[in-house]
Amino acid sequence: MEIDEEKALAARAAANRVRAGQRVALGTGSTTSFAIRALAERFPGGDNLSIVASSAATERLATSLGLPVRALEANDHFDVMVDGADEVAPTLSLTKGGGAALFREKFLARLTSEVVIAVDHTKLVPRLGTRAPIPIEIVPFARIRLIHQLSDRALSPRLRADPTTGAPVLTDNGNELLDLFPERGVEDPARLEHELRALPGVIETGLFVGLARRIYVGLPDGTVQEILHPGVTSS
Ligand code: 5RP
Repeated sequence: MEIDEEKALAARAAANRVRAGQRVALGTGSTTSFAIRALAERFPGGDNLSIVASSAATERLATSLGLPVRALEANDHFDVMVDGADEVAPTLSLTKGGGAALFREKFLARLTSEVVIAVDHTKLVPRLGTRAPIPIEIVPFARIRLIHQLSDRALSPRLRADPTTGAPVLTDNGNELLDLFPERGVEDPARLEHELRALPGVIETGLFVGLARRIYVGLPDGTVQEILHPGVTSS
């Protein structure tokens, strides 16, 4: 089974968590795109869904498929968020931000009752930072100092750049991204998250600790594994 088929299967299972009339936050990336297509099939015209997107790309896709996307409101709370991830640890901590949308994704995840993550099987890792780098969104002005500070901490920061133009990749918020490569991965994601957030110029990190409630994993045999956060029931 191709990786894209695994993503599509997991994404469909994640999209099945959404009920008509719910308030839904949508993540970003290729797996989320499969979930958006599945939602558009299940809810033609939107069926009273109230959707906020984590990126311009997600908003474009969802609206092109007839799903109603609106702006964030003052008292927003979401029933469910459907998203992908770059890595999933056994504790259900995640690495996200491969698609540069980590700030808005985490912002929305914090406002959501049930964060549902869809991944292919290669995203399951024993330790974060071993399959994918840990991205952080930073204020461009602070870049030179942050690179120095993060290099001192052996995190091997690398500015994310467009492979064709070499220009820094900018997020939807107009900021830059540094990808961190900890040599032996991240031993304690919560601690690293805390340390990184304390550095002036760091806006957000791609470490998602304690946010995911339900993970769907597309497997090579064509089945989907459901992994639940302790305390979450399988219904
Ligand atoms: C975007 C993300 C994505 O969810 C993550 O990069 C996974 O992407 P894909 O589904 O394309 O593998 O965090 O910021």
